[in-house]
Amino acid sequence: MINLTIDGVKISVEEGTTILEAARLLGKDIPTLCHDERLKPHGACRICVVEVEGAKSLLASCSTPVQEGMVVHTESKSVIEARKTVLELLISNHPLDCLTCEKAGDCKLQDYCYRYDIKEDKYGGEKIKYELDDSNEFYICDQNKCILCGKCVRVCNELQCTGAIGFAKRGFYTHIAVPFDRKLYESDCVSCGNCVAVCPVGALTVKKRDKYRAWEVKKVRTTCSYCGVGCQMYL
Ligand code: FES
Repeated sequence: MINLTIDGVKISVEEGTTILEAARLLGKDIPTLCHDERLKPHGACRICVVEVEGAKSLLASCSTPVQEGMVVHTESKSVIEARKTVLELLISNHPLDCLTCEKAGDCKLQDYCYRYDIKEDKYGGEKIKYELDDSNEFYICDQNKCILCGKCVRVCNELQCTGAIGFAKRGFYTHIAVPFDRKLYESDCVSCGNCVAVCPVGALTVKKRDKYRAWEVKKVRTTCSYCGVGCQMYL
């Protein structure tokens, strides 16, 4: 067992446990955007950073295994500053249309901006304008709202093993794409819905028969009836 201290509380956990997992055992609410316990740690969004005494920089808690004697601070001044910067950078290339966004009330970016008091785009730089892809029968893909957490790509490849989507281009122009720049309906997508279920923002949303807000309904475990395999999801 590995002994460490998180926010002044001592805890022993099994070797290989990440700081995030250990902190959650103590009921700590470390924010995450790209983390999913079913997938390999990705370490892309950096919203989960924590301060570890003696470390040269803040560490991503979702991908850092605990070490004997670690002293971790999950909400120190430098941690909060770093998370605010991550959020400011994310919204600098994100529409601020929360008033009418289908994901309002069920959006992690919105939740964390509220938690860390981020109200506006302080950089005012260039924003990329992507065309909406509503070619799939069941969901809409709005790349303008994508934060590149990669969860949709990873569930499609690692869990569903369909490989319908991946990343294209680099840097500022990185986006989620179907190989050979095709539309979603031309891809190998089997409409399992896993990508939509894990999207933390409004980039992938279900096509609805009726208009409703997130808090007016509740998510249920359901079986996809598309192909008869019986994939399970929460929608
Ligand atoms: Fe840890 Fe994204 S949740 S880097």
